[in-house]
Parts: sequence; structure tokens; C-alpha cells
Amino acid sequence: MGRQFYITTAIDYTNAPPHIGHAYEKVLADVIARYQRAKAAKDGAGVYFLTGVDQHGQKVQQAAQREGVEPGVFADGIAAKFKALWQKLDVKPDGWASTTDPRHKQCVQAILQKLHDKPGDPPDLYKATHRGFYSVRQEQFLTDKERGADGTFGPEWGEIVEIEEENWYFRLSKYREWLISFVRNHEGFVIPKFRHAELLNAVEKLSGDLCISRPKTRLSWGIELSFDREFVTYVWFDALINYISFAGYVGDASLPDFDQLWPADAHVIGKDILVPAHGIYWPVMLHALGFADEEIPTLLVHGWWNIAGAKMSKSAGNVIDPSALADKYGADALRYYLVRDISTGQDSDFSEERLRALYHSELANGLGNLLNRTLSMVHRYRQGVVTRTAAAGGITWGEKESATYTEAMDAYRIDEALEVVRDFVSRCNGYIEANAPWKLAKDPDEAEKLDGVLCDLLDGLRTVALCLSPVMPGAGESILRQLGYLTPEDRCALEGIPGAHSAAYPDLPATHKVGEASVLFPRIDS
Ligand code: MSP
Repeated sequence: MGRQFYITTAIDYTNAPPHIGHAYEKVLADVIARYQRAKAAKDGAGVYFLTGVDQHGQKVQQAAQREGVEPGVFADGIAAKFKALWQKLDVKPDGWASTTDPRHKQCVQAILQKLHDKPGDPPDLYKATHRGFYSVRQEQFLTDKERGADGTFGPEWGEIVEIEEENWYFRLSKYREWLISFVRNHEGFVIPKFRHAELLNAVEKLSGDLCISRPKTRLSWGIELSFDREFVTYVWFDALINYISFAGYVGDASLPDFDQLWPADAHVIGKDILVPAHGIYWPVMLHALGFADEEIPTLLVHGWWNIAGAKMSKSAGNVIDPSALADKYGADALRYYLVRDISTGQDSDFSEERLRALYHSELANGLGNLLNRTLSMVHRYRQGVVTRTAAAGGITWGEKESATYTEAMDAYRIDEALEVVRDFVSRCNGYIEANAPWKLAKDPDEAEKLDGVLCDLLDGLRTVALCLSPVMPGAGESILRQLGYLTPEDRCALEGIPGAHSAAYPDLPATHKVGEASVLFPRIDS
């Protein structure tokens, strides 16, 4: 039994409902998880995909206050929207990380206690007083970053007072040198490379420690410090721990076996939360807890979906609702668009016109047509039954295609893998034109050739279905069913990735009966 592939995503704040950016990240991780699962099926290894919600902190407390409800009630209401969306989009995590889960709270408290009690001079945690400018309206301390060009704090901060506050600090400075050398020596810590360079640059400029508590008098919605009950844990310190708490770090029968899962193969996060949270705080936290360098997971940093070059935001009123798009185009097509029209790591512009155009050209016309033409020819010329003949092999999914596809998927470059499949679909459509089966069908001397062409098309479509399944699980399954390959005996077809594991991908029988045809991607009027 091989090692489990463990993949996580950023857990979403429950201060506002999900938008298309949240959907992209979860779909990306789900595609990777499904691909890895198909690949691992042969050697019995598994995949564990963790995602969830980040329920605590000021943003959530403030959003709840505006609605006049308890923060827990508010956060759970939004969490339910995230859960419902993942269900609609066929995003199927194995574990659900909710930071209000008692198992998580217990783990966060145990970790803080461990750092608090850890011998060392100077100690990892210390209490200190900070004096600074505080925005009463935003309920936060302001730093020089919040100053405008003229050096003052803008009107959006409301009344500003200078206050003194006592808090607990995590001594990041003690680990600064370790972090610099860790990041320098581990290029694979961050994907893509240019983000690694960006992180190294930030790490070299690092100064100061991290405030990890908030006094309950100003923020009560958080996990209490067990050694100082007047304080709750700073939300980032709480949230990052989800990656280990839900992997069974403190040992809990209802959670996975930590030694089996850790380290995660990929933490999937957006570019905005690399520095400082995942690139600085997180490795230092793990190191301080005694994790070895090799036990620090890789960060897969994706870019953002923007709207006409601008950031999506509630205040700009340009937030895109993924649920409505899934209703209109189907979950498969939305998933396809989200990983097809962005290259992992880069930003892209979201446009419904573009989604609709790709839906029609690549899905309805390209793929849908290939399936439809093939099935209708098999029904018309062969009463639904094809016979394998020596004449087959006029078009094949070759080793080069397999290699390019698997290399791209293994490197999380989904858009490149899809391009290989798309090119193959066009070649198959071209193959039909070039061989004109409608002419072959009229000539009894060409009977064997016609069988060969039909066989090639069925083989090709089966490969296409398997390769597309991680991205479009519904369409993948439907294609296999229509081709007649989703019989109980042939279940393994869904679990194979052509080229990666041919053993999980049995040869087609000598004669084969196809299933009923149905339209995969109906045209959608604008
Ligand atoms: N709660 C924190 C993460 C804690 S992880 C221990 C958070 N939440 S968030 O809801 O603001 O963002 C969740 C994820 O969505 C982040 O990875 C973020 O980068 C991603 N996205 C938010 N807007 C996005 C786009 N417009 N496009 C793509 N991803 C985006 O940060």
C-alpha cells in the first residue's frame, strides 16, 4: 500500500458567501485529488483531500454584529453556503475543517500550551505591552502600511486613538535565520518558482515577532488561551493549524492517522496569503513544534480570477456567483472553464461571454459532436455492436500524449493537460472527415476498414473520458456510459489514467455493444 496523497486548500472565511475565486481554488484542488486518486488506485494508495471554513476572528464577529446575530450562528449560516456550493460543484473533500470544531480547538490549545511550556532561552511565547494607533471603527491597530500618501490615516478608519494593549507574542525573530536558510535551500517549497523568489525576498526583510492573541475585551470570537483566559488566539494562528489538527495531530479516533498523512503533498492557496501567513508563520510554527525540514509541505500558490483586470469585491459590486453559473451551464462546464482558462499561478479575467464561447466551441461542438457522431454511426452502420479488426489503429492516443498529459497533471498545470486532450479530440474529428465512414458504409469491400475506424473512435473517446474525468466527473461518467464501458465489470475504467497505469485499463473486448446516446452539452441561448 502506497503513501496517501494529502492535499488541502485555504479554508474560507465565513464573513461573506462564496464567490468565483473561492470556487476556483476548491475545484483546482478537487481536480488534483481526483487525478491522484485515479493514478493511485492501482497500487491501493489513497488520497485525502481536506478543505473547510475559517470561522473565527474579527471579520466574522463584525459581519455577525451588523446582522445582529451571534457570531457562531452567523458563521454556521455562511459555512452551510460553502458546503452546498461544493456539493453542487462536485467538489468532494474527504475531511471538513471547521475551526469551531471542538477537536480543532483542543488541538490549537494543546499546541499553544506546548509552545508556552517549551524550555528555551529566550522562550517561544512571551507577554508584552504594545502602544499604538487604534481604529475604533475597524477595531484594529494601524501600522505605517495603513497610512496614505500624505502620512495620515484616511477617513475610512474613523476615530483613531493611541492605546496601550497587553498581548502574547510568538518569537518569530528567534527563527529568522533558520527560515532564511530553509527557504533558500528548498526551491520546491513554493510552486511556481517566481513565487518562491517573492517569498525569499520577503523573508530576508523579516523583522519583529508575531502577536498571537487578542484581549477578549476587544475580540471574543476565538479560541481561548488555556494559560491566560482573558485572551483568545489570533485568527491566523488558529486557522493554519487546521492542516495538522484535522490530519490527526493530537490523535483522535475520528480523524486520520497523522503518520500516514503528514506531510501534505500540497497546500493549495491564493497568492494573497503566501506572505506572511503560509510562507513565514506556518513553516516557523511547524519548525518550533519540532517538525523536520522535510516535513514542511509544499505550497501550491495560484493566481486570482479578476473582472476586467480589477479585483473582485463586494464594494465594487462585481462579485460573481458560482452557484448561478453552475445552474446555467452545469457544474462540469463551470469546472472546465475555471481550470482551462487560467494557467496555474497566473491571474486571469473572468468573463461569462468567454465561458459561453468555450462551452459551445470546445464542449458542445468539439467533444459533444465527436461523441454524438461516433455513437450514431455505430448504431446506424453496425446496429450498436462494433467488432475489433486488424484494420484498427488509424488514430491512437500515443505515448507522447500520455506523457505530456501526466507530466502536466503531476505538475498541477491543468490547462496544459486539457490542451493535449483538446488536440486529440480535434484529431479524432478530423479522422472522421478524412475516412468518411458514410462512404465506407456503402461499399461492402470496406466493411473491415469501417469496423477499424469505429473501433478507433471508441478507444479514443474512452481515453478522452478518462483524461477529462478529474475535471468533469459528470461528463466523464456519461461518456463512458454512452460508450457502453460503464458496466459493473468495467468499473475500473473510471479509475484508470491511460498511460499512467495500463493495468487498470483493460483491453477492449473483440466485440462490444455501445450504450444509448444522449446530448452531453446542450446549446445554451444567450
Ligand atoms: N481564511 C483565510 C485562509 C486561511 S488558510 C489557513 C482566507 N480566506 S478567504 O476566504 O479570504 O480566501 C480563501 C481563498 O480564496 C484564498 O486562498 C484566496 O486566495 C482565495 N481567493 C479569494 N479571492 C480569489 C479570487 N478572486 N481568485 C482566486 N482565488 C481567490 O484567506
